[in-house]
Amino acid sequence: MAESVNHQEVHDLLVEVARKAGDMIATAQPHINTSSSKKNSADLVTETDKAVEKFVIGALRERYPDYDFLGEETYVPGKQLTDKPTFICDPIDGTTNFIHAFPNVCISLALCVMRMPVVGVIYNPYTTHMYTAIKNQGSFLTMPVRTDSPTSPAPIAPRKIRLPRKQHPEPLTGLQNALCAVEWGSDRSGHNFEVKHRTFTKLAGAIEEGGKMVHSLRSMGSAALNLCAVAAGQVDLYWEGGCWAWDVAAGWLILTEAGGIMVDGNPGGWTPAVDCRRYLAIRAAPSGQKELVEEFWSAIEGRMEYSS
Ligand code: IPD
Ligand code: CA
Repeated sequence: MAESVNHQEVHDLLVEVARKAGDMIATAQPHINTSSSKKNSADLVTETDKAVEKFVIGALRERYPDYDFLGEETYVPGKQLTDKPTFICDPIDGTTNFIHAFPNVCISLALCVMRMPVVGVIYNPYTTHMYTAIKNQGSFLTMPVRTDSPTSPAPIAPRKIRLPRKQHPEPLTGLQNALCAVEWGSDRSGHNFEVKHRTFTKLAGAIEEGGKMVHSLRSMGSAALNLCAVAAGQVDLYWEGGCWAWDVAAGWLILTEAGGIMVDGNPGGWTPAVDCRRYLAIRAAPSGQKELVEEFWSAIEGRMEYSS
Protein backbone atom coordinates (compact mmCIF):
# COMPACT_ATOMS: atom_id res chain seq x y z
CA MET A 1 0.00 0.00 0.00
CA ALA A 2 1.41 3.36 -1.04
CA GLU A 3 0.10 5.11 2.12
CA SER A 4 1.87 2.72 4.44
CA VAL A 5 5.34 3.19 2.96
CA ASN A 6 7.66 4.52 5.65
CA HIS A 7 10.08 6.63 3.63
CA GLN A 8 12.59 7.08 6.44
CA GLU A 9 12.84 3.32 7.06
CA VAL A 10 13.30 2.65 3.38
CA HIS A 11 15.94 5.40 3.19
CA ASP A 12 17.87 3.91 6.12
CA LEU A 13 17.80 0.45 4.57
CA LEU A 14 18.90 1.74 1.13
CA VAL A 15 21.82 3.61 2.73
CA GLU A 16 22.91 0.47 4.55
CA VAL A 17 22.56 -1.69 1.43
CA ALA A 18 24.41 0.89 -0.70
CA ARG A 19 27.37 0.92 1.72
CA LYS A 20 27.63 -2.90 1.75
CA ALA A 21 27.29 -3.05 -2.02
CA GLY A 22 29.88 -0.28 -2.26
CA ASP A 23 32.36 -2.51 -0.39
CA MET A 24 31.73 -5.25 -2.95
CA ILE A 25 32.42 -2.80 -5.78
CA ALA A 26 35.48 -1.19 -4.23
CA THR A 27 37.16 -4.52 -3.42
CA ALA A 28 36.46 -6.15 -6.80
CA GLN A 29 39.20 -6.54 -9.39
CA PRO A 30 37.44 -5.95 -12.71
CA HIS A 31 39.32 -6.73 -15.89
CA ILE A 32 38.41 -5.76 -19.42
CA ASN A 33 38.82 -9.38 -20.57
CA THR A 34 36.41 -10.71 -17.96
CA SER A 35 33.64 -8.24 -18.76
CA SER A 36 31.06 -9.17 -21.34
CA SER A 37 29.11 -7.15 -23.88
CA LYS A 38 25.34 -6.89 -23.83
CA LYS A 39 24.16 -5.02 -26.93
CA ASN A 40 27.61 -4.11 -28.28
CA SER A 41 31.21 -3.45 -27.19
CA ALA A 42 30.22 -0.17 -25.50
CA ASP A 43 27.47 -1.82 -23.39
CA LEU A 44 29.36 -3.79 -20.76
CA VAL A 45 28.55 -5.94 -17.75
CA THR A 46 30.82 -7.66 -15.19
CA GLU A 47 30.33 -10.41 -12.65
CA THR A 48 30.35 -7.69 -9.99
CA ASP A 49 27.29 -5.94 -11.55
CA LYS A 50 25.42 -9.26 -11.31
CA ALA A 51 26.65 -10.14 -7.82
CA VAL A 52 25.75 -6.70 -6.45
CA GLU A 53 22.25 -6.84 -7.91
CA LYS A 54 21.75 -10.33 -6.44
CA PHE A 55 22.82 -9.04 -3.02
CA VAL A 56 20.51 -6.01 -3.31
CA ILE A 57 17.51 -8.13 -4.29
CA GLY A 58 18.08 -10.43 -1.32
CA ALA A 59 18.45 -7.58 1.18
CA LEU A 60 15.39 -5.67 -0.06
CA ARG A 61 13.12 -8.73 -0.48
CA GLU A 62 13.86 -9.80 3.09
CA ARG A 63 12.39 -6.55 4.48
CA TYR A 64 9.87 -5.67 1.75
CA PRO A 65 8.73 -8.96 0.17
CA ASP A 66 5.63 -7.38 -1.41
CA TYR A 67 7.36 -4.58 -3.28
CA ASP A 68 8.25 -4.91 -6.96
CA PHE A 69 11.82 -4.80 -8.13
CA LEU A 70 13.29 -3.39 -11.35
CA GLY A 71 17.02 -3.82 -11.81
CA GLU A 72 19.38 -3.39 -14.72
CA GLU A 73 20.81 -6.91 -14.63
CA THR A 74 17.54 -8.80 -14.07
CA TYR A 75 15.41 -6.64 -16.39
CA VAL A 76 13.24 -8.59 -18.79
CA PRO A 77 12.44 -6.58 -21.96
CA GLY A 78 8.86 -5.35 -21.90
CA LYS A 79 8.59 -5.15 -18.09
CA GLN A 80 6.95 -1.82 -17.25
CA LEU A 81 7.09 0.32 -14.14
CA THR A 82 3.68 0.16 -12.41
CA ASP A 83 1.92 2.16 -9.65
CA LYS A 84 3.03 -0.40 -7.03
CA PRO A 85 5.92 0.43 -4.69
CA THR A 86 8.93 -0.60 -6.74
CA PHE A 87 12.61 -0.68 -5.87
CA ILE A 88 14.76 0.43 -8.80
CA CYS A 89 18.40 -0.65 -8.80
CA ASP A 90 21.42 0.05 -10.91
CA PRO A 91 24.04 -2.11 -9.18
CA ILE A 92 26.93 -0.32 -10.91
CA ASP A 93 26.28 2.86 -12.82
CA GLY A 94 29.44 3.64 -14.74
CA THR A 95 30.38 0.04 -15.56
CA THR A 96 32.80 1.21 -18.25
CA ASN A 97 34.51 3.46 -15.70
CA PHE A 98 34.57 0.55 -13.24
CA ILE A 99 36.35 -1.70 -15.73
CA HIS A 100 38.90 1.02 -16.48
CA ALA A 101 39.37 1.92 -12.78
CA PHE A 102 38.14 5.45 -13.51
CA PRO A 103 36.63 6.30 -10.12
CA ASN A 104 33.32 7.82 -11.24
CA VAL A 105 31.18 4.82 -10.32
CA CYS A 106 28.17 4.35 -8.07
CA ILE A 107 25.32 2.17 -6.97
CA SER A 108 21.93 3.82 -7.51
CA LEU A 109 18.87 2.74 -5.49
CA ALA A 110 15.40 4.23 -5.46
CA LEU A 111 11.91 3.46 -4.29
CA CYS A 112 9.17 4.58 -6.68
CA VAL A 113 5.51 4.83 -5.69
CA MET A 114 2.90 5.65 -8.35
CA ARG A 115 5.83 5.64 -10.84
CA MET A 116 7.66 8.49 -9.15
CA PRO A 117 10.71 8.28 -6.87
CA VAL A 118 10.05 8.90 -3.16
CA VAL A 119 13.45 7.78 -1.82
CA GLY A 120 16.77 7.94 -3.65
CA VAL A 121 20.27 6.87 -2.63
CA ILE A 122 23.42 7.06 -4.77
CA TYR A 123 26.80 5.97 -3.40
CA ASN A 124 30.25 6.24 -4.97
CA PRO A 125 32.42 3.75 -3.03
CA TYR A 126 35.68 5.25 -4.29
CA THR A 127 35.02 8.78 -3.04
CA THR A 128 32.61 7.55 -0.31
CA HIS A 129 30.21 10.30 -1.39
CA MET A 130 26.66 9.31 -0.40
CA TYR A 131 23.80 11.29 -2.00
CA THR A 132 20.35 10.83 -0.44
CA ALA A 133 16.85 12.23 -0.76
CA ILE A 134 13.41 11.60 0.68
CA LYS A 135 10.40 13.21 -0.96
CA ASN A 136 9.62 16.64 0.52
CA GLN A 137 12.65 16.49 2.84
CA GLY A 138 15.44 17.86 0.66
CA SER A 139 18.56 16.16 -0.58
CA PHE A 140 21.95 15.71 0.99
CA LEU A 141 25.54 14.72 0.36
CA THR A 142 27.34 12.89 3.15
CA MET A 143 31.08 13.02 2.55
CA PRO A 144 34.30 12.84 4.50
CA VAL A 145 35.62 16.28 5.43
CA ARG A 146 38.97 17.04 7.09
CA THR A 147 38.33 18.55 10.47
CA ASP A 148 41.93 19.26 11.44
CA SER A 149 43.56 22.67 11.79
CA PRO A 150 47.23 23.60 12.18
CA THR A 151 46.75 23.68 15.96
CA SER A 152 44.49 20.67 16.49
CA PRO A 153 44.93 17.80 14.06
CA ALA A 154 41.79 15.68 13.92
CA PRO A 155 40.68 12.76 11.78
CA ILE A 156 38.51 12.97 8.70
CA ALA A 157 34.84 12.95 9.73
CA PRO A 158 31.69 12.45 7.66
CA ARG A 159 29.66 15.61 7.17
CA LYS A 160 26.09 15.83 5.83
CA ILE A 161 25.65 18.80 3.51
CA ARG A 162 22.34 20.00 2.09
CA LEU A 163 22.19 20.30 -1.70
CA PRO A 164 22.72 22.38 -3.72
CA ARG A 165 26.22 23.10 -2.41
CA LYS A 166 25.79 26.87 -2.89
CA GLN A 167 23.25 28.26 -0.44
CA HIS A 168 22.34 30.99 -2.93
CA PRO A 169 22.79 29.55 -6.42
CA GLU A 170 23.26 32.10 -9.20
CA PRO A 171 20.55 32.71 -11.80
CA LEU A 172 20.96 30.74 -15.02
CA THR A 173 21.90 33.09 -17.83
CA GLY A 174 21.68 30.93 -20.93
CA LEU A 175 23.59 28.23 -22.73
CA GLN A 176 26.56 30.42 -23.43
CA ASN A 177 27.35 30.44 -19.70
CA ALA A 178 26.45 26.81 -19.05
CA LEU A 179 28.61 23.84 -18.12
CA CYS A 180 26.78 20.87 -19.64
CA ALA A 181 26.96 17.13 -18.97
CA VAL A 182 26.19 14.87 -21.94
CA GLU A 183 26.89 11.19 -22.58
CA TRP A 184 27.76 9.22 -25.71
CA GLY A 185 25.78 6.18 -24.46
CA SER A 186 26.17 2.84 -26.20
CA ASP A 187 24.31 3.50 -29.48
CA ARG A 188 26.98 4.58 -31.94
CA SER A 189 25.06 4.53 -35.21
CA GLY A 190 21.67 5.44 -36.64
CA HIS A 191 19.24 8.27 -36.04
CA ASN A 192 19.65 8.72 -32.28
CA PHE A 193 23.44 8.82 -32.56
CA GLU A 194 23.16 11.42 -35.29
CA VAL A 195 20.85 13.62 -33.17
CA LYS A 196 23.33 13.38 -30.31
CA HIS A 197 26.58 14.13 -32.12
CA ARG A 198 25.07 16.93 -34.21
CA THR A 199 23.66 18.47 -31.00
CA PHE A 200 27.04 18.14 -29.26
CA THR A 201 28.66 20.01 -32.15
CA LYS A 202 25.99 22.71 -32.04
CA LEU A 203 26.37 23.15 -28.26
CA ALA A 204 30.16 23.37 -28.38
CA GLY A 205 30.57 25.35 -31.62
CA ALA A 206 31.29 29.05 -32.02
CA ILE A 207 28.34 31.47 -32.13
CA GLU A 208 29.51 32.97 -35.45
CA GLU A 209 29.26 29.49 -36.99
CA GLY A 210 25.77 28.80 -35.62
CA GLY A 211 26.86 27.14 -32.40
CA LYS A 212 25.93 27.90 -28.79
CA MET A 213 29.48 28.08 -27.43
CA VAL A 214 28.65 26.56 -24.02
CA HIS A 215 31.39 26.79 -21.41
CA SER A 216 32.15 23.12 -22.04
CA LEU A 217 30.73 19.62 -22.36
CA ARG A 218 31.48 16.98 -19.69
CA SER A 219 31.03 13.26 -20.30
CA MET A 220 31.81 11.45 -17.05
CA GLY A 221 30.21 8.05 -17.69
CA SER A 222 27.52 7.77 -15.03
CA ALA A 223 24.00 9.09 -15.53
CA ALA A 224 23.29 8.83 -11.79
CA LEU A 225 26.38 10.83 -10.79
CA ASN A 226 25.67 13.37 -13.54
CA LEU A 227 22.29 13.99 -11.90
CA CYS A 228 24.00 14.35 -8.52
CA ALA A 229 26.38 16.92 -10.04
CA VAL A 230 23.41 18.92 -11.35
CA ALA A 231 21.67 18.57 -7.97
CA ALA A 232 24.83 19.84 -6.26
CA GLY A 233 24.98 22.77 -8.72
CA GLN A 234 28.41 21.72 -10.03
CA VAL A 235 27.18 21.48 -13.61
CA ASP A 236 24.26 23.50 -14.93
CA LEU A 237 22.48 20.84 -16.95
CA TYR A 238 22.59 17.22 -18.10
CA TRP A 239 21.06 15.95 -21.35
CA GLU A 240 20.78 12.32 -22.40
CA GLY A 241 18.74 9.88 -24.44
CA GLY A 242 18.98 6.11 -24.22
CA CYS A 243 19.46 5.50 -20.52
CA TRP A 244 16.87 3.69 -18.42
CA ALA A 245 14.77 4.15 -15.28
CA TRP A 246 17.50 2.52 -13.14
CA ASP A 247 20.03 5.12 -14.36
CA VAL A 248 17.87 8.08 -13.33
CA ALA A 249 15.24 7.19 -10.68
CA ALA A 250 17.34 7.98 -7.58
CA GLY A 251 19.12 10.93 -9.20
CA TRP A 252 15.79 12.39 -10.31
CA LEU A 253 14.61 12.74 -6.70
CA ILE A 254 18.01 14.00 -5.49
CA LEU A 255 17.86 16.62 -8.25
CA THR A 256 14.29 17.79 -7.69
CA GLU A 257 14.61 17.83 -3.89
CA ALA A 258 17.62 20.12 -4.41
CA GLY A 259 15.46 22.54 -6.42
CA GLY A 260 16.44 21.29 -9.87
CA ILE A 261 13.98 20.31 -12.58
CA MET A 262 13.72 17.30 -14.87
CA VAL A 263 12.08 17.63 -18.28
CA ASP A 264 11.99 15.54 -21.44
CA GLY A 265 15.17 15.29 -23.50
CA ASN A 266 13.00 15.94 -26.56
CA PRO A 267 11.44 19.39 -27.00
CA GLY A 268 8.02 20.02 -25.46
CA GLY A 269 7.76 17.51 -22.59
CA TRP A 270 7.52 19.36 -19.29
CA THR A 271 6.37 16.32 -17.24
CA PRO A 272 8.31 13.27 -18.46
CA ALA A 273 7.92 9.75 -17.08
CA VAL A 274 10.76 8.21 -15.08
CA ASP A 275 11.10 5.50 -17.72
CA CYS A 276 10.79 7.74 -20.82
CA ARG A 277 14.53 7.30 -21.64
CA ARG A 278 15.09 10.96 -22.66
CA TYR A 279 16.07 13.47 -20.01
CA LEU A 280 17.12 17.07 -19.52
CA ALA A 281 18.05 18.04 -15.95
CA ILE A 282 18.57 21.66 -14.91
CA ARG A 283 20.14 22.81 -11.64
CA ALA A 284 18.43 24.89 -8.94
CA ALA A 285 18.40 28.62 -9.71
CA PRO A 286 16.37 31.65 -8.61
CA SER A 287 15.60 32.35 -12.30
CA GLY A 288 16.36 31.19 -15.81
CA GLN A 289 15.47 27.47 -15.50
CA LYS A 290 12.53 27.55 -17.91
CA GLU A 291 14.37 29.82 -20.33
CA LEU A 292 17.37 27.46 -20.33
CA VAL A 293 15.11 24.47 -21.04
CA GLU A 294 13.62 26.26 -24.03
CA GLU A 295 16.98 27.44 -25.31
CA PHE A 296 18.36 23.89 -24.98
CA TRP A 297 15.37 22.32 -26.72
CA SER A 298 15.80 24.74 -29.63
CA ALA A 299 19.45 23.62 -29.97
CA ILE A 300 18.60 19.90 -30.32
CA GLU A 301 19.22 18.69 -33.87
CA GLY A 302 16.12 16.48 -34.36
CA ARG A 303 14.09 14.29 -32.00
CA MET A 304 15.44 11.21 -30.27
CA GLU A 305 13.40 8.07 -30.85
CA TYR A 306 13.92 6.37 -27.49
CA SER A 307 10.78 5.30 -25.60
CA SER A 308 9.99 3.05 -22.63
C1 IPD B 1 25.39 3.85 -18.42
C2 IPD B 1 25.95 5.13 -17.83
C3 IPD B 1 26.24 6.10 -18.94
C4 IPD B 1 25.04 6.39 -19.79
C5 IPD B 1 24.43 5.10 -20.32
C6 IPD B 1 24.14 4.14 -19.17
P1 IPD B 1 25.97 1.63 -17.06
O1 IPD B 1 25.08 2.94 -17.39
O2 IPD B 1 25.03 5.71 -16.95
O3 IPD B 1 26.67 7.32 -18.42
O4 IPD B 1 25.42 7.16 -20.89
O5 IPD B 1 23.22 5.41 -20.99
O6 IPD B 1 23.63 2.95 -19.69
O7 IPD B 1 25.99 0.79 -18.30
O8 IPD B 1 27.30 2.10 -16.67
O9 IPD B 1 25.20 0.98 -15.95
CA1 CA C 1 23.51 2.34 -15.46
